[in-house]
Amino acid sequence: MQTIHEPSAIGRRCESLRREGKTIGLVPTMGAFHEGHLSLMRRARAENDVVIVSIFVNPIQFARGEDFESYPRDLQGDLAQAERAEVDLVFTPSAEEIYPDGFQTYVDVTEITKGLCGASRPEHFRGVTTIVTKLFNLIRAHRAYFGQKDYQQSAAVRRLVADLNLDLEIVLLPTVREADGLAISSRNVRLAPEERQAACVLYTSLRLAEERVGSGERDAKTILDEMRSVIEAEPLAHLDYVALCDPETLKPLDRIEDPMLAVLAVRFGKTRLIDNLLLTLP
Ligand code: PAF
Repeated sequence: MQTIHEPSAIGRRCESLRREGKTIGLVPTMGAFHEGHLSLMRRARAENDVVIVSIFVNPIQFARGEDFESYPRDLQGDLAQAERAEVDLVFTPSAEEIYPDGFQTYVDVTEITKGLCGASRPEHFRGVTTIVTKLFNLIRAHRAYFGQKDYQQSAAVRRLVADLNLDLEIVLLPTVREADGLAISSRNVRLAPEERQAACVLYTSLRLAEERVGSGERDAKTILDEMRSVIEAEPLAHLDYVALCDPETLKPLDRIEDPMLAVLAVRFGKTRLIDNLLLTLP
């Protein structure tokens, strides 16, 4: 497995892989690998000649006061796991190389990023879509792999690929969960033991929505109220938002539609967790 730091070097390497006719699968990450990342790498391995993983804790997707400094980092552990997952190349640029002095160009997907997480993290998605566009330009992958847990991020990335006529396929893979349903996330390690136990209310609330839709409830407000009650019954949980929305536009729905995304964000102390389920009518 090769590790490359400089953007110009990864650009040259990928250019020559393309000339050799190799297909390239990219897994963009911020490191601190867990089973969710590994599932993306495994799928990329199965579908491409060359698998490239980027590890970059992207400063511009964190607002001042968010957890950029304390975001979990474990480069040596990540490299060992990537090697075991048969990744071919890991790209680990520095912030100075990605955003040199004078940098001032951003990619902004304007509508999909306004609500849900965008409401409490107004700069976040612009940072994500900017770094992802830079990675797509440097690596020129045939496919890029994202997890469904960050659904709004993947919807924004799909939109930017369509809007900017980028020639790559976005592959969305299911959320990987712990045994009690908690979506695996790099931030879970920050939960105190009692918060970790309480955090399963996200999945409980989503499953309730799924069951209620499955058993014929057609009033969105009733379902949202019930989802909210599950979260509010847990004293350690502080609800940021809960919504039922259109899976493409992410606009909130007040009538049940098919399909529909149930999505929520909940804080436990300083840790904010997100999760979602795609609901279909029986
Ligand atoms: O999901 C993440 O880890 C990040 O938001 C991403 C896509 C790597 C961009 O920094």
